Amino acid sequence: MIWIEARKGEEIMLEIKNAGKVYEGKIAHRALTDVSLKVENGEFVGIMGPSGSGKTTLLNMISTIDQPTSGEIVIDGERPHQLKKQKLAEFRRQSLGFVFQEFNLLPTLTIEENIVLPLTLDGTKVREMETRALAIARKLGIEDILNKRITEVSGGQAQRAAIARAMIHEPRLLLADEPTGNLDSKSSKDVMEMLETMNKEEGATTLLVTHDPQAASYCDRVVFIRDGKLYSEIHKGEKRQPFFQQIMDTLSFLGGEHDDLSSVRHS
Ligand SMILES: Nc1ncnc2c1ncn2[C@@H]1O[C@H](COP(=O)(O)OP(=O)(O)OP(=O)(O)O)[C@@H](O)[C@H]1O
Ligand SMILES: [Mg+2]
Repeated sequence: MIWIEARKGEEIMLEIKNAGKVYEGKIAHRALTDVSLKVENGEFVGIMGPSGSGKTTLLNMISTIDQPTSGEIVIDGERPHQLKKQKLAEFRRQSLGFVFQEFNLLPTLTIEENIVLPLTLDGTKVREMETRALAIARKLGIEDILNKRITEVSGGQAQRAAIARAMIHEPRLLLADEPTGNLDSKSSKDVMEMLETMNKEEGATTLLVTHDPQAASYCDRVVFIRDGKLYSEIHKGEKRQPFFQQIMDTLSFLGGEHDDLSSVRHS
């Protein structure tokens, strides 16, 4: 892993160049305007902004779930939006990992079966899948519940299983949209600590969309979006607590949905 550490800062993992997104419909809606962003290899970047500001739209374009209507996205030297269907599917499977608010795990499968799902698609041998599942489950503190079904574990445990599934094929870029959105504050903290560990130890470049300033304070840098445009960005210094305060201050400047902030202040 020293190798990845050494490369940090020397390589761009993600470059978004003047990206725009217009949703066509009866009334066309411009969701993103001229967004440019560079993310270094190994960075942990948070994306914040009021509801409807375009965070999920941006993440969906990076994850190639959706296409930008203008501009360009380069991931690890590739332009995924220009790849043909088959190559794109391969690129997504090999280079990207996803974690969502709703876990998106299969309820009838065990935790272990859920975790190894991406490997079964690639035809990995059962023995190797078991070894890798156990290794990552240990890292995430869920090795004791590998045989339980999703319906039998807590939300925090389910989300850690989702992180394990997203990381098992060692993606270069991990994309998380509100991964703590359905969790209580203790489970949120656990999940954020796990994401931080995966970022620091596995070197996975991580992009996290969140409304929660506490969660965002685990990032190296937080980028703020307002009305589909980049508004500002702040970097973490040595400590998390002052960074948290800075995030709160920026959010109050940013305005937006009153609920977003009031719910945080009182929690
Ligand atoms: N498929 C779609 N078709 C049309 N408009 C859309 C679509 N998806 C999102 N939008 C609009 O684009 C804007 C940005 O939406 P987006 O989901 O990216 O916001 P967000 O920042 O993720 O919000 P939230 O914090 O509530 O999740 C919103 O005005 C939304 O209504
Ligand atoms: Mg969203």
